[in-house]
Amino acid sequence: MYCASVFSLVWIFINGNSAGEKTFQANGSEGDFETSKATCSQAGGLLASPRNSAENTAIQQIVVRHNKAAYVGINDIETEGSFKYLSGEAIGYSNWAGGEPNNLGTEDCVEIHSDGKWNDRSCNEKRLIICEF
Ligand code: IPD
Ligand code: CA
Repeated sequence: MYCASVFSLVWIFINGNSAGEKTFQANGSEGDFETSKATCSQAGGLLASPRNSAENTAIQQIVVRHNKAAYVGINDIETEGSFKYLSGEAIGYSNWAGGEPNNLGTEDCVEIHSDGKWNDRSCNEKRLIICEF
């Protein structure tokens, strides 16, 4: 237990993916929004859902490390323009890129880019899977 805790603290320190109580992890696998959600939930976590700028930065660092955008656990599938966490709660923090969300075509999911900015996007792209625990 002690070794595991020390290991995870060292790992988190080196990889810089901790924010507050949460840790964020990716293993390089990719998937669309549904696959990303299912993968994280099977791993006992949740698709990474940034609720403040510290969490967003921690997720951004993983996107940069893998050079691949990722879906976050936010969408407006239920009501266009009303973005919610996977829990159904309205988002309390956002980091949209300029001009986003623009719902181009139909874009109900949200991807985070290497600059940390968000874009609403089709849920059917393949993106890096980042989970939070
Ligand atoms: C689009 C652009 C646009 C964004 C859309 C994207 P695409 O990329 O990046 O700014 O708002 O969500 O789909 O489709 O022209 O490669
Ligand atoms: Ca968009």
